[in-house]
Amino acid sequence: MRVQIAIIGAGPAGLLLGQLLHGAGISAVIIEQRSQEYVLGRIRAGVLEQGTVELMDIAGVGGRMHREGLVHDGTELCFKGERHRIDFHKLVGKTVMIYGQTELTRDLMDARRALGLPTVYEAANVAVHDFDTAHPRVTYEKDGLAHEVQCDFIAGCDGFHGVCRASVPTDALHTYERVYPFGWLGILSDTPPVSDELIYVNHERGFALCSQRSTTRSRYYVQCPLDDKVENWSDERFWDELRLRLDREAAERLVTGPSIEKSIAPLRSFVAEPLRFGRLLLAGDAGHIVPPTGAKGLNLAASDVRFLWQALEDHYRGNQTALEHYSERCLARIWKAERFSWWMTSLLHRFPDNGDFGRKIQEAELEYLVHSEAASTSLAENYVGLPFGE
Ligand code: FAD
Ligand code: DHB
Repeated sequence: MRVQIAIIGAGPAGLLLGQLLHGAGISAVIIEQRSQEYVLGRIRAGVLEQGTVELMDIAGVGGRMHREGLVHDGTELCFKGERHRIDFHKLVGKTVMIYGQTELTRDLMDARRALGLPTVYEAANVAVHDFDTAHPRVTYEKDGLAHEVQCDFIAGCDGFHGVCRASVPTDALHTYERVYPFGWLGILSDTPPVSDELIYVNHERGFALCSQRSTTRSRYYVQCPLDDKVENWSDERFWDELRLRLDREAAERLVTGPSIEKSIAPLRSFVAEPLRFGRLLLAGDAGHIVPPTGAKGLNLAASDVRFLWQALEDHYRGNQTALEHYSERCLARIWKAERFSWWMTSLLHRFPDNGDFGRKIQEAELEYLVHSEAASTSLAENYVGLPFGE
């Protein structure tokens, strides 16, 4: 098979890129190691920046998102038992959209199938070759048969554990990493959200987050020890712990019910530089990871894809500038989101080694944040998504 772009990975980054390239008349195949059902079964992000919403619209797949997604004008921060609202719309004139990564992925998969665009699921032993030449190749096995794809470029959209970044010679790559000393235990339940907006909680028992997927489906998280196990957490124990971390009104209003998903995610900050190696270009989690606090992971993947799609479109029109600057344009935005996610994580979690001094500093910062318009504006403009610098 020969295509212009071989995309590795059918997560949000790969699927969105595929759709945008199709719109630009550029041929692509997506090669994914898992099944479609497996990809859709992963419960992950839920908050879309306006730029991500825009990109879904440009890709022609925004219809259901606008019908079913919930527009949020602000969020709440809860500390010392009281909630304080940050009004994004008033402060920076922008909003965010509540729409699950699962739904976004499903919309992209459906559109791809309806257009008859090629996607290979359950591809085994995917390998990328010759990306330091003008003729890169991808090989994989499917149903026991060996396949080869010849292409102009390989888009590495295969997530943090993917094969693309791992195929780059280690001396060509500089990585930056911070691993946090706790995890997030999350549950999904078909219960009405405790509040219209998200609540980020700093509590002496640890961080908590009240999020949602719709008016009837809630997503809640509590900070937990890194070595904790899902089996240690009955639904009842989870709800009791969450209730302890909420303000009194929210605790009383919380509607509980059986969980439909429960998992523990580790928290990590990670950036690989650069994101381009000859004709291999990394996008999304393949190149960087943020801790989930602040909901930047999926949005950063979408912003890399925006730069990559534009760079490839320019390339085929004869202009190489955007491709030459792909890595630095992405990284400028990535590092700002890394900073914001690290800062939100530092502000809201209990760190085992920070002690009373650390807790007092957090409280002082939170007080400053909710009472200073300058500080609230800074949070708001980062949360809704920084500009793309085009
Ligand atoms: P992915 O979604 O990881 O997609 C990569 C795809 O590549 C996968 O489908 C994978 O199967 C495939 N792949 C991997 N290796 C290969 C290979 N060798 N060959 C072929 N295909 C391959 N963000 C938030 O904002 N909020 C959250 O609450 C949140 N929770 C998260 C929970 C977890 C457990 C994880 C891992 C991430 C979470 N994130 C969250 C981050 C967010 O989901 C990611 O940033 C987002 O999925 C990135 O999209 P992506 O397409 O770059 O990567
Ligand atoms: C969600 C996750 C986040 O990390 C966040 O900051 C907001 C919402 C969520 O999964 O809904």
